[in-house]
Amino acid sequence: MKTRIAVLVSGGGTNLQALIDAQQRGDIPDGEIALVVSNNAGAYALERAKRAGIETAVCLREKGESRADFEAKVLKALESRAIDMIVLAGFMAILSADFVRRYPDRIINVHPALIPSFCGEGFYGLRVHRAALDYGVKVTGATVHYVNEIPDGGRIIAQKAVEILPGDTPEVLQRRVMEQAEWILLPRATEMVAKKIAGR
Ligand code: GAR
Repeated sequence: MKTRIAVLVSGGGTNLQALIDAQQRGDIPDGEIALVVSNNAGAYALERAKRAGIETAVCLREKGESRADFEAKVLKALESRAIDMIVLAGFMAILSADFVRRYPDRIINVHPALIPSFCGEGFYGLRVHRAALDYGVKVTGATVHYVNEIPDGGRIIAQKAVEILPGDTPEVLQRRVMEQAEWILLPRATEMVAKKIAGR
């Protein structure tokens, strides 16, 4: 039996695309992307999922809605599809301790820096790369880690370093980190964890 994977997204979905491509190449033999959940109805990631024939669900956190109520909707989507494993791929919401406790060692996240640098609450997307450039580090990278109750605080699964070059803008650096690290690490880590969950 393959591990049933849900990918949670909020935006462009290039990491989701890397997962879809890896699955189509046969590089995730122990898992199956069964669902894509977005907390943003306009996310281009939803188009990518539909194009690949993957079921989608949109779970919005309405104005004034509690995080618990929002997470209850996400849980319902996951449970109704018998999801075993969750991949956060550019999912721009922090999951509560209550939520993550339901999936111990079954949620992974990709972060666009070398944790423990430039991570934690408030460090997401281009902000991470802007912070790295402002600090003046010469090397950054990406990290895939398990998700626990501490933002970006779970055990590290894989990391890859990426050079910062003179003249880099946050956008240029983001693209290099994606190409050289995220899109490679995330599918590999996904297969590794899917395999473990499948008991192989
Ligand atoms: C990626 O760089 C991902 O690492 C980052 O957002 C981007 C999403 O791009 N995630 C975080 O910053 C989470 N803290 P994508 O939608 O094209 O995959």
